[in-house]
Amino acid sequence: MPSSIVTIQKKDDHTQKLVIVPPSNGLTLTGNVSIPGDKSISHRSLMFGAIAEGETVIEGLLVGEDPQSTAKCFRQMGATISPLNPEKVIVQGIGLGNLQEPTNILDVGNSGTTIRLMLGLLASISDRFFTVTGDDSLRSRPMSRVVEPLQQMGATIWGRNNDSLAPLAIKGQKLQAIHYMSPVASAQVKSCILLAGLMVDGKTTVTEPALSRDHSERMLKAFGAELEIDSQTHSVTLTGQPTLRGQNVIVPGDISSAAFWLVAAAIVPDSELLITNVGVNPTRTGILEALEMMSADITKENERIVAGEPVADLRVKHGKLTACTIEGSIIPRLIDEIPILAVAATFAEGTTVIKDAAELRVKESDRLKVMATELGKMGAKITELPDGLEITGGTTLNGAEVDTYTDHRIAMSLAIASLMAQGETTIHRAEAASISYPMFFETLQQVISS
Ligand code: S3P
Repeated sequence: MPSSIVTIQKKDDHTQKLVIVPPSNGLTLTGNVSIPGDKSISHRSLMFGAIAEGETVIEGLLVGEDPQSTAKCFRQMGATISPLNPEKVIVQGIGLGNLQEPTNILDVGNSGTTIRLMLGLLASISDRFFTVTGDDSLRSRPMSRVVEPLQQMGATIWGRNNDSLAPLAIKGQKLQAIHYMSPVASAQVKSCILLAGLMVDGKTTVTEPALSRDHSERMLKAFGAELEIDSQTHSVTLTGQPTLRGQNVIVPGDISSAAFWLVAAAIVPDSELLITNVGVNPTRTGILEALEMMSADITKENERIVAGEPVADLRVKHGKLTACTIEGSIIPRLIDEIPILAVAATFAEGTTVIKDAAELRVKESDRLKVMATELGKMGAKITELPDGLEITGGTTLNGAEVDTYTDHRIAMSLAIASLMAQGETTIHRAEAASISYPMFFETLQQVISS
């Protein structure tokens, strides 16, 4: 494998640029890929471990920048968390309601999941004061979606722009139970309210317009909370004041990280990859259904349940892709995979339409705009819609200078697109990938054979 296909260069401003030069006779991707732990489950295992009684042992944790931010914040509030590594992390919980007032600002970095879930916990701890901030991207993301329901529960939260942007200041206090009808299908919103509901007397209910990922519900139950799920109405009800006890958590591989390899092998001729130990929780498998609609050749092998979460190995082979329409209730189940699906659509026959995905505008970047401009620079026929994208496949991509806008999923999506481009692609601010997948580019080198 010629090492010159993928190179990472450090720039003077401490960012990194990734240069990809596929050989003129093409390349293929083969082998086994073991993906890092699920980001959503990793955050929750650290947080729930910190507020439980006793010890939580986590195997398979994602050692990426986002979980590092969560661990740092909870250490500042008194939890003992061993150094993060994928083999074993030990969290000594301090018990529900016992998070200490930190003596400094809590910095969540780039992590929306950390700030939104943590706000529910902080707002409900009486008489303690917290300030929370994050990086440039985080400070531009809407917090009103969690601040407003918390205020309905009685929370006191201040922030920029009418309490809607971080930095936020929180004066914890006793909250009241509510039934919250969430206008968005968001696991971050749902989880924030449920976590606030832990400290409340009585039952807190969240109803969503469509089902979002249910990792909080599964893990809170495993830690001892009482939850009722109404799958007809997408509602979950939590009974306040449970005793949470530390658990052994095994984090499966992240299907959102697997998605890059699924699309890569599907679009690069003669490729075949086996992606092992992938979490296939039905609230996350929209990507498999979308790729199936696009006629991708993907098979599930070795399906099993690991610590309450469904897991499988995924085998993907190159094949002809066809366009499809992705809309409605599948969107929350593939919300983080839309950038890489846009890459798949670029190589599919026909016009793929993605709708009902306006949420992408408030992720780590405006992912609709960024994918349209950056893939467009490479020659893709891609149009930004108010709530989605329209992509006509079959164009030849050319190498270009593109930017990640510091968004990890954009970095990896553009890297996969560049494997099929003619000539050299330079991806600026490629270091963003380490938010959720620190070894992504090294693994890419390893699976390339030409
Ligand atoms: C996440 C939920 C999703 C997702 C994010 C992680 C979580 O956000 O995009 O990467 O862990 O709960 P929303 O809940 O805002 O859709």
